[in-house]
Amino acid sequence: MSGSADLESLSRMLAGADRVVAFTGAGISTESGIPDFRSPGGIWTRYDPRDFIFDRYVAEPEVRANSWAMRRAFFAANARPNAAHRALARLEAVGPLATIITQNIDGLHQEAGSQHVIEIHGTAREVACIGVHPVGGAPDGCGFVAPHTWAFEQLDAGVDDPGCPDCGGLVKSATISFGQQMPLDAVRRAQAEVAACDLLLVVGSSLQVYPAAALPGEARRYGAQVVIVNDEPTDLDDLAHLVVRGRAGEVLAAAVAGIDSDAPG
Ligand code: APR
Repeated sequence: MSGSADLESLSRMLAGADRVVAFTGAGISTESGIPDFRSPGGIWTRYDPRDFIFDRYVAEPEVRANSWAMRRAFFAANARPNAAHRALARLEAVGPLATIITQNIDGLHQEAGSQHVIEIHGTAREVACIGVHPVGGAPDGCGFVAPHTWAFEQLDAGVDDPGCPDCGGLVKSATISFGQQMPLDAVRRAQAEVAACDLLLVVGSSLQVYPAAALPGEARRYGAQVVIVNDEPTDLDDLAHLVVRGRAGEVLAAAVAGIDSDAPG
């Protein structure tokens, strides 16, 4: 883990910032028991990402069945927010953190109490109609949206391929799959937040998936400070004014405690 000097630098940068935006990836949730994607043992070391592209979900009932099985296993693990999620929620409560932009679909930032979260890869906590035959990665749903438990209830009732109760279209977890169009509203809000911040705090991302991974470079271009907290080197470490090597929970809890006058101890 980085030394105390880096932690002190991070605390000082957070304390001196007017508007912090956090950008989080799967690495912030591994301490909650959710595997990330590209670390040893990560999801893409166990599954082939080509089995999860949008057009195959539309065309192949087996891909839909595998996706529902993965979702059920995900929620069966009953992951809870960890110290890193709680530290960011505290940073929002005490001041400089305005928004979290997350690539994660687990909803743990909101469960930890964060109020302003932009989920640029959607959320696994809802399902949505994507239409009868959407093409080109563009969902064409009728507007049906339900909690993820609705799909599990359908599956438990013997419905192998849950369909939209309103239009008969396909139903999918409200996440953004490979080959699926990004949610333009969320991406635009994320870009606006990055343009307005004076410190971008990147936590637990390998910064390999675009357009999300373009955000640190955009922050630099707008003159913001960039800090990367990660337990391994990332492709964009050279962009950062400060890189703190270590576990997100430990680093963020220590850094936020350093500026939170109400923190215990
Ligand atoms: N503390 C700090 N860093 C961690 C921790 C931890 N506890 N656990 C893992 N990491 C680091 C890993 O070393 C890795 O560099 O977090 C990073 C996670 O990178 P990825 O697994 O690539 O996850 P992410 O960057 O979020 O992936 C982006 O890719 O497959 C798509 O849609 C998926 O949203 C995902 C996107």
